[in-house]
Amino acid sequence: SKFQKDCETPTPYLRNVAKAITDDMRAGLAVDGGGDLEMLLTYVDALPSGKEEGLFYALDLGGTNLRVLSVEFGGKPIEAKQISIPPELMIGTREQLFGFIASTLASFFAKEEPGRFPLEQGRKREIGFTFSFPVKQTSIDSGTLIKWTKGFNVSGMEGKDVVACLNESMEAHGLDMRVSALVNDGVGTLAGARYSDEDVMIGVILGTGTNACYVEQKHAIPKLQSKSSSGTTIINTEWGGFSKVLPQTIFDQEMDAESPNCGEHLYEKMVSGMYLGEIVRRVLLQMSETTGLFGQFVPGKLSRPFELKYPSLTIILRAICLWTEHLSKMQKDTTDDLQTVGLVLYDILEVKANLQERRKVVEVCDTVVKRGARLAGAGIVAILEKIEKETERMVSGKRTVVAMDGSLYEKYPQYQQYMQDALVELLGDKLSYIAIKHAKDVSGLGAALLAATNSIY
Ligand code: BG6
Ligand code: GLC
Repeated sequence: SKFQKDCETPTPYLRNVAKAITDDMRAGLAVDGGGDLEMLLTYVDALPSGKEEGLFYALDLGGTNLRVLSVEFGGKPIEAKQISIPPELMIGTREQLFGFIASTLASFFAKEEPGRFPLEQGRKREIGFTFSFPVKQTSIDSGTLIKWTKGFNVSGMEGKDVVACLNESMEAHGLDMRVSALVNDGVGTLAGARYSDEDVMIGVILGTGTNACYVEQKHAIPKLQSKSSSGTTIINTEWGGFSKVLPQTIFDQEMDAESPNCGEHLYEKMVSGMYLGEIVRRVLLQMSETTGLFGQFVPGKLSRPFELKYPSLTIILRAICLWTEHLSKMQKDTTDDLQTVGLVLYDILEVKANLQERRKVVEVCDTVVKRGARLAGAGIVAILEKIEKETERMVSGKRTVVAMDGSLYEKYPQYQQYMQDALVELLGDKLSYIAIKHAKDVSGLGAALLAATNSIY
């Protein structure tokens, strides 16, 4: 069909995408706003060495979950608490969101055995804060939100320092802690994975949103105004903002127009979990209206944008991610008569689909997911090539590890497979120097490690 054709991403085309991403990386490293990728400075110059010691904490605000953890390096294992972020807080006020974070933190401490972790006089507990949005940092422990992504739209944050917001709420909850590191989730993933493997050079998130952070040589960052240009630092690419040469269809354009960050993060809108299901929904709706995908019947639930299982329009995010979960379930179906597909369609659309209809639905899922995964593969290649250009690691026979995390990568085997295919096509023999590793939930660990590395005591 035309839609399938429009979504095709043959190897030479992917090569162009990778090249365009590398060009934008360079432009963004030269000057702020130079390209689509923001290439944000993170002030993380020293990566975990594995020799960290002491007790540190981490707060991890991801796309769907908030996590709190305590880590005793060189000692006891991690204790963690995970809670999903109430959707209404994603579009509420700053006080509500940070109040929720601080109260989760307070209840975590309330459960800590009194006296188990005595602090030296005058020393505060130190915490690393993973905040998975674009932040303009001025130091390792401060930075202002540039803009919201992933459907978040919390008021009162413009121009505010994220750490100051957290401090204010912690104070209100009687928590006396010090935020020693503010990090993006990609940075946290990279640092956390680096703890046990020194060849990790890139952290990639494929979840609700998508991003990549990597180790760059300081001499290759013209906009870095520091006297010393030796050594390395981590760059947060915010590659979700890439927008050139993308195979946008009318469905992508319409979805973008209705999103809270219209015109922004277009690559993210083709690659990540929040959007894949919503694109499929739009295609299926059009097919049922114009070509009678389900006969005369146009399922009512198919026509309500972002409103699948949750009745209130404010609760958009859950519904969207749920759709992507359904895609994953349908694509895992290997039965001859596509039984699971039938069940899912009945469950979400109340439609009794015959085999031919089921096949068509799977085709649409496959088209959208394949395009997203292949574009993600092109992004990874772009970063690998930039690293290679500066370091010649592969030439000297060194291995490079890409640490991956996020719900989409974790829960969608077919997505992983398509991404891998793209890597094989683009890298050929060079792929033998690359390892792609699932670094599950390590971004909190990474933040705690960076709090340790940047401890003021
Ligand atoms: C998690 C990280 O494992 O993956 C988060 O700890 C990150 O910080 C996330 O944002 C991606 O999550 P999601 O919910 O968007 O898949
Ligand atoms: C969005 C955010 C980015 C984050 C990514 C993955 O793209 O802008 O900061 O890393 O989602 O969670």
